[in-house]
Amino acid sequence: MAMFPEYRPRRLRRTAPLRRLVRETHLSASQLVLPMFVRPGHRVRVPVDSMPGVAQLSVDELVREAAAAAAAGVGGVLLFGIPEHKDAIGTSAWDDQGPVQQAVRALKREVPDLVVITDVCLCEYTDHGHCGVLKDGDVDNDATLDLLAREAVSHAAAGADIVAPSDMMDGRVGAIRGALDDAGFAHTPILSYAAKFAGPFYGPFRDAAESTPQFGDRRSYQMDSANADEALREVELDIAEGADMLMVKPAGPFLDVIRRVKDATGYPLAAYQVSGEFSMIKAAAERGWIDGERVMMESLLGIRRAGADVVITYFAAEAAAVIGRGER
Ligand code: PBG
Repeated sequence: MAMFPEYRPRRLRRTAPLRRLVRETHLSASQLVLPMFVRPGHRVRVPVDSMPGVAQLSVDELVREAAAAAAAGVGGVLLFGIPEHKDAIGTSAWDDQGPVQQAVRALKREVPDLVVITDVCLCEYTDHGHCGVLKDGDVDNDATLDLLAREAVSHAAAGADIVAPSDMMDGRVGAIRGALDDAGFAHTPILSYAAKFAGPFYGPFRDAAESTPQFGDRRSYQMDSANADEALREVELDIAEGADMLMVKPAGPFLDVIRRVKDATGYPLAAYQVSGEFSMIKAAAERGWIDGERVMMESLLGIRRAGADVVITYFAAEAAAVIGRGER
């Protein structure tokens, strides 16, 4: 390797056109997915205090916002539902007239080129806020699988382009794949939240989705943040069960896991920059302590550089607007 003074890395940094020419990682709006919260009603917007700019939206408002995001180039949306009724087993999750199902149908009609992904989980639909059904105070893995499968089939029947199970039950990808195939949805892909870590970064989301567990926490089903080898085992299982795409979540604190999963599998990989990551940047920017726009872009570029193909982020529309203004 040539050494200084023959090799001067600064030569290629001296002008913006040179820097652009040799830039290794690019962020394009089509790789961004915007999570959205849909609730019943008409012309309803309920702002989420802990997530500036994010609101629970009725279907009409959601379609308007999604259309604007699509016009800015955003590739897809990820839908979470806030149902009218919650119960012990999350019955509303597979209601064909539920907010998510209605939103999917409206989006596929009004904004057909936007990829519509649905979050498949019970925590927004259960009155106890856990991601599965309970038995003796614990989440019953196997009894939950059939319910998740019904929810996924209901989303696919509404027209979802991709279903994304986030519950972290063992065996759910296989159960959902089987149910989709049996119901005639062999072409509906599964984006598996394969490596989803339990932790404090989901705090603001639980306000947004009204899904805070009423007792205990999610550490008996979501992963221990210390474990990266285990993340690879989770990923292998989900691939064996039929996952089409994988996800690592949260993103920023788990960039090493993103890289290892990408290198080990070569599968299409999404990373979810979760609510806490978003709100921290927003809060510091509001105080004038950081340049919010530049930190937003660097956080997203870092996730791409780590190996994610798709970034799920509450910044999707804002970042798409920055990308649309052109590289600087
Ligand atoms: C549902 C789900 C959660 C998130 C996505 N799907 C919450 C949780 O696991 O408690 C979190 C997303 C975010 O924080 O932005 N299981």
